[in-house]
Amino acid sequence: MLPLPYFYIVMRIDIITVLPEMLEGFVNTSILARAQKKGLVEIYVHNLRDYTTDKHRRVDDYPFGGFAGMVMQCQPIDACISALTAERHYDEIIFTSPDGEQFDQPMANSLSLHKNIIILCGHYKGIDYRIREHLITKEVSIGDYVLTGGELAAAVMSDAIVRLIPGVLGDEQSAFNDSFQDNLLAAPVYTRPAEYKGWRVPDILLSGHDAKIKEWEIQQSLERTKRLRPDLLDK
Ligand code: ADE
Repeated sequence: MLPLPYFYIVMRIDIITVLPEMLEGFVNTSILARAQKKGLVEIYVHNLRDYTTDKHRRVDDYPFGGFAGMVMQCQPIDACISALTAERHYDEIIFTSPDGEQFDQPMANSLSLHKNIIILCGHYKGIDYRIREHLITKEVSIGDYVLTGGELAAAVMSDAIVRLIPGVLGDEQSAFNDSFQDNLLAAPVYTRPAEYKGWRVPDILLSGHDAKIKEWEIQQSLERTKRLRPDLLDK
């Protein structure tokens, strides 16, 4: 591992959920585990039930107005967020919701520059709207579909953010080459053998001619973007 530069800051992500077991496996596996072991990020999963004053550990109640479904109450969410914000400043307090701003690569890039963020996972029919009005600074959706809870959204966002932190990916360049990073899809990649079942790797990649290979890569990126995601070229 490279020595860390003197200005290096450890990013901290606090995830608040009623289903901590759904996230603990995820944040302690693969890239996120490696990033934490390298000391580049700290991820904490908080069980919302640990913050309720209810003796049965309930965190939800019936909605006023007689609507269907259950709503997460203010008290445990406020208690958990207050405990965290009493310790440090948070750049964003995010709520995962299908009606939030659409998560995309530019949002991942900008969130990866923050020092501390909270992600509150929504559940049931929603959360008491006063939390959204008074404590939440950003509402984020991962797509136009409804999930049963915000845990998968928190996992998707954490993964996309953490892999952008310098030093997390083995090859520092690789995050820059991602699809979407410049509104272009990535070029195809191949590995050995050069021929498999008669399927050949493009000759140019075996030529050793760096400038021509770079040109091929750009042209492939453009061609795939035009064919598969022409909307990206309008951005
Ligand atoms: N919770 C439920 N659906 C969601 C979505 N699409 N994005 C973020 N959070 C959600």
